[in-house]
Amino acid sequence: MTEAAAEKPQAVVKTVLVTGAAAGLGRAIALALAARQVQVGVCDIDEAGATRTATQCAEIASEGAAVIVADLATPDGPDKAVREALSQFGRLDGLVNNAGFATVEPFLEMTAEAWDRTYHVNIRAVALLCAAAGRAMAGNAAAADATAAGSSGQGGRIVNITSPAARMALPNYAHYAASKAAVDSITRTAAIALAPFGVTVNSMAPGMMDTVMQSKTEQMMAEVEGRNDLQAYLDERTARVPLGRRTDPDEMAKLVVWLLLDAPQYVTAERLNGSGGLDRD
Ligand SMILES: NC(=O)c1ccc[n+]([C@@H]2O[C@H](COP(=O)([O-])OP(=O)(O)OC[C@H]3O[C@@H](n4cnc5c(N)ncnc54)[C@H](O)[C@@H]3O)[C@@H](O)[C@H]2O)c1
Repeated sequence: MTEAAAEKPQAVVKTVLVTGAAAGLGRAIALALAARQVQVGVCDIDEAGATRTATQCAEIASEGAAVIVADLATPDGPDKAVREALSQFGRLDGLVNNAGFATVEPFLEMTAEAWDRTYHVNIRAVALLCAAAGRAMAGNAAAADATAAGSSGQGGRIVNITSPAARMALPNYAHYAASKAAVDSITRTAAIALAPFGVTVNSMAPGMMDTVMQSKTEQMMAEVEGRNDLQAYLDERTARVPLGRRTDPDEMAKLVVWLLLDAPQYVTAERLNGSGGLDRD
């Protein structure tokens, strides 16, 4: 590494919008960021859950946290969430696209409703949030350049939550798998679109975490596959992970925090796997 590269300033990330932060992985990410004194915009459709997370964040982070209630499946939900974060914090340095929807339907019985909901939450909202946050972060880079020559590369950081499912053939889970393949595509595209503004865009693929979403999904999968012994079914699924165990939201939150706060500014368009080797990247 040359001396110049070693001296390149890191992005300073003080305010981060985390979607789907009322529960599960989003909540763990919000708390891990608060522990690093980041002001978190706790965004969710579930106001009570978001308020609980924000209250816990505010107990750890001196600058507090904000509750941002939004249905990201609506056409203006993504813009509204970013506008609200900007009005609460004055600037936005980071975004985690974590909110997600999953359902299970046999391939021959798929419904338009399931496809629509999956598309609106997992794809359209992710793309529109990247764009809305990108516009806000482009302003950060311009302001940094105006005050300190050569400080470009400080626009902000975006992390999209993808899934090992993006790379798998899953006949009862086609909408979800396709939506996460779309997240991978959006990540690459947004990374190139936002690079001139000093905004990096990466993704993280978590392994199996026993969240509400995962438990419901696996119950539906077992039903559709005609498996009566749920525990035996879950054990088989766990045994398919090369590292031999499931993970949890706290372990996965560390990867997101690393991408947001600690990774070199030169990393963009990357997919970080926390899947225990499940999709054998
Ligand atoms: N749990 C796993 O094993 C697993 C594995 C791979 C990827 N993922 C991904 O991780 C992310 C988090 O999943 P999780 O397991 O923590 O799920 P979860 O169901 O526990 O949490 C998801 C959150 O998103 C919120 N949300 C859903 N629709 C929304 C909308 N329209 N507007 C605003 N908020 C909305 C929910 O209210 C909820 O709080 C998702 O993107 C999921 O696809 C999860």
